[in-house]
Amino acid sequence: MRLAKYLAHAGLASRRRAEEIIAEGRVSVDGETVRDPARDVDERRDVRVDGRRLVPPPDREVFMLHKPAGVVSTARDTHGRPTVVDIVPARRRLYPVGRLDADTTGLILLTDDGELAHRLTHPSFEVDKTYLATVAGAPVREVALRRLRDGVELEDGRTAPARVDRVRPDTLAITIHEGRKRQVRRMCAAVGHPVLALCRVRLGPLELGELAEGAVRALTPEEIAALSRAGAGGRHGPGSSRSVPRRPSRPARPGDGAGPAPPR
Ligand code: URA
Repeated sequence: MRLAKYLAHAGLASRRRAEEIIAEGRVSVDGETVRDPARDVDERRDVRVDGRRLVPPPDREVFMLHKPAGVVSTARDTHGRPTVVDIVPARRRLYPVGRLDADTTGLILLTDDGELAHRLTHPSFEVDKTYLATVAGAPVREVALRRLRDGVELEDGRTAPARVDRVRPDTLAITIHEGRKRQVRRMCAAVGHPVLALCRVRLGPLELGELAEGAVRALTPEEIAALSRAGAGGRHGPGSSRSVPRRPSRPARPGDGAGPAPPR
């Protein structure tokens, strides 16, 4: 693997930044300073950055699913409804990262790395999440927008300030970093605009983009690294809200061969 890619895989930085770090002469391979980002390395090499040994990138996969409505985001459902794990074919056991309501569509992550899933689900992983909410009672007026932005009193306390943009008379783009149960639905209902449809379009540095409903794709190593950095820094950390370039892949329907590998 190219040295710059190896550093990016290990979560050090984006590939471009890794190339700069290499050019600065800060990277050594088996004791030799290397300024060539294309140098071929693997986990048997002693790769160091500023003299500190780099832990080899773990062999893990993270998938982005555009969750359809009616699918639950737990690993198992007592009511027999389909789960996100059922509809993503994978070689290894997958863990959903966080939750979306059964009737919410949009971006949800699944990984075969239970520890990563746990870390990304922890309340300290406060990355921004953006939802598109189609609401009743349109048009949504400025006074309702202001209340949503300032924080709404709910039964479990006041919500933190949110970014709220009216993208159509009946559609709001709402960005929050909290993750309370049915939070967006309760916020909108509290200002007189119950949610008719809800879709998560962004999670930290990741965007749903053109991924079709029901389709799945593997995250690139750069996206995984950016996600880990966003979580490690909390919502104030570097990269928590910035987007990373997506692999220009065609969206894949589960099972059509373009998504993750089928079960072994
Ligand atoms: N807020 C909600 O109300 N529902 C979700 O699924 C996610 C955020």
